[in-house]
Amino acid sequence: MKIINIGSLNIDYVYEVDSFVKKGETKLSNKLNIYSGGKGLNQSIALKRAGAEVYHGGLIGKDGSFLKELLEKEKVNTDFISIVNSPSGHAIIQVDESGDNCILLHGGANQLFTEEIVDSILENFNKGDYLLLQNEINLMEYIINKASEKGLIIVLNPSPINSKLKSYPLDKVDIFILNEVEGKELTNKEKEEDILNELISKYLKAQFVLTLGEKGVRYGFKDERIEVNAKQVKAMDTTAAGDTFTGYYLASMLSGKSVQEALETATVASSITVTREGAADSIPYMKEILE
Ligand code: RIB
Repeated sequence: MKIINIGSLNIDYVYEVDSFVKKGETKLSNKLNIYSGGKGLNQSIALKRAGAEVYHGGLIGKDGSFLKELLEKEKVNTDFISIVNSPSGHAIIQVDESGDNCILLHGGANQLFTEEIVDSILENFNKGDYLLLQNEINLMEYIINKASEKGLIIVLNPSPINSKLKSYPLDKVDIFILNEVEGKELTNKEKEEDILNELISKYLKAQFVLTLGEKGVRYGFKDERIEVNAKQVKAMDTTAAGDTFTGYYLASMLSGKSVQEALETATVASSITVTREGAADSIPYMKEILE
């Protein structure tokens, strides 16, 4: 069984601010840091640091060669990362005093997938292999359909939410790892139990992991429900907390842990991430979780 993550690679420009810029306002930031990021890249690193072998499929411009080098250094397989004639994707991230963030994305190279590129990646994977996707690249519908035809197990972190999401063939997804905002958007429900119940009745074959920030995480599959509380930590920067959770949950599950154990491991991992600055750099190693 192999894991292929087809996902974004971004250059993150992270601005520390006292509070987020408001409409019509101009603001001087306190500090700028430039980090490696992208939900795709972050999740590949989280998977690898959690102990899984992972292939990353993605597109960068010449300016993003350091993103590929970082994945190589982490021993993520980068055979399916290509350089295209466009700037890499980037993110403008404001982080405020409480560690919360808001993110503006420019898709760049991440939005230049073609059917040929997707086919040339997926031809290397077979029935029973895992495909992990987020929502920062183009051709999502094509990728899900192709992967499903091949019998891949599809894991979707539908982040960031956008108007296209509902038009994807979501009935082909096997595992959703999503947050409350995404859950509300997909179901038009407000309460977490209602979101989970609605998702389960809509997508019958899928397992759902609903992350709720400080309220922890809920799992639902058919009649089964599991809850795990969040760890109380002082947040410094919440960027990549969701990505850490996704990578650790999937890697833990595939290593043979029970759902309960995988949820607990992923909860500890993401609670460490929020105590550190940056995206990929803030993701802990498995040995830190064990400690
Ligand atoms: O989830 C965090 C990530 O979202 C950042 O690294 C940024 O690049 C955006 O994709």
